[in-house]
Amino acid sequence: MYIPKPLDKKITLPALQKLKQQGSKIACLTAYDYSFAHLLEQAGVELVLVGDSLGMVIQGHDTTLPVSMDDIAYHTLAVSRGLKHAMLMADMPFGSINSPQQALDNATRLLKQSGAHIVKLEGGELQLDTVRLLAEHSIPVCAHLGLQPQSVHKMGGYRVQGRDAETAGHMKSLALELQQAGADLLLLECVPRQLAREITAELQIPVIGIGAGADCDGQILVLQDMLGLTPGRRPSFSRDFMAEADDIAGAVKAYVAAVKNGDFPGPEQGFD
Ligand code: KIV
Repeated sequence: MYIPKPLDKKITLPALQKLKQQGSKIACLTAYDYSFAHLLEQAGVELVLVGDSLGMVIQGHDTTLPVSMDDIAYHTLAVSRGLKHAMLMADMPFGSINSPQQALDNATRLLKQSGAHIVKLEGGELQLDTVRLLAEHSIPVCAHLGLQPQSVHKMGGYRVQGRDAETAGHMKSLALELQQAGADLLLLECVPRQLAREITAELQIPVIGIGAGADCDGQILVLQDMLGLTPGRRPSFSRDFMAEADDIAGAVKAYVAAVKNGDFPGPEQGFD
């Protein structure tokens, strides 16, 4: 039984790799400011993402598309001031990775000026050269497959990805290619649990899931969703951890414990 406690050691890529090898789940959440970053680290969250979800949950847009590099840089710097030990991941927003060189310049800015340790980018084939270039320049990268919210208009909505054999096979080979290109982590969003299980087993790098079943190496949720703060309908793959907690710190600790103990996600928070 895992009891959440404040992080007391720096979370590095080798540390995450070791958790994967040991079969210990990695607890991740999004944050967008100093106070929540500090609270998350005190609750034992190992990886904090400044997601472009901030466009929706902080700025109130309908999609993540309007988020700018300045927005991500500003929120990442604020979050970095609240973290001493957790790994800080910054999202590359829509339009910031249109060429490998543009991605390199923007990712360099996030590591150099905002305190990010790793950047996350949505996309498949088109991003292979970018991942390679960032890896050559010692910039850690998390690739992001499955549902890619920056492609919402192309996909025609927020839908589970990889449900048929062809798209599932394609996602599997892309995951391997991204790893070969130098990706250090992979995030899978809204992917059937069986496919996520197979990709996680095949890859050497840690795989973090959101709506991708319980067999990924780690789990992530949008903070506002798991605190029951998001207006409207909560995504079906999330859980309201505030519902049974006395306060926000208690809810985040309950989430960390549930991830570590394998109680979250449950069968109702995944897709077939
Ligand atoms: O932007 C974000 O918060 C994300 C999560 C959905 C993982 O990418």
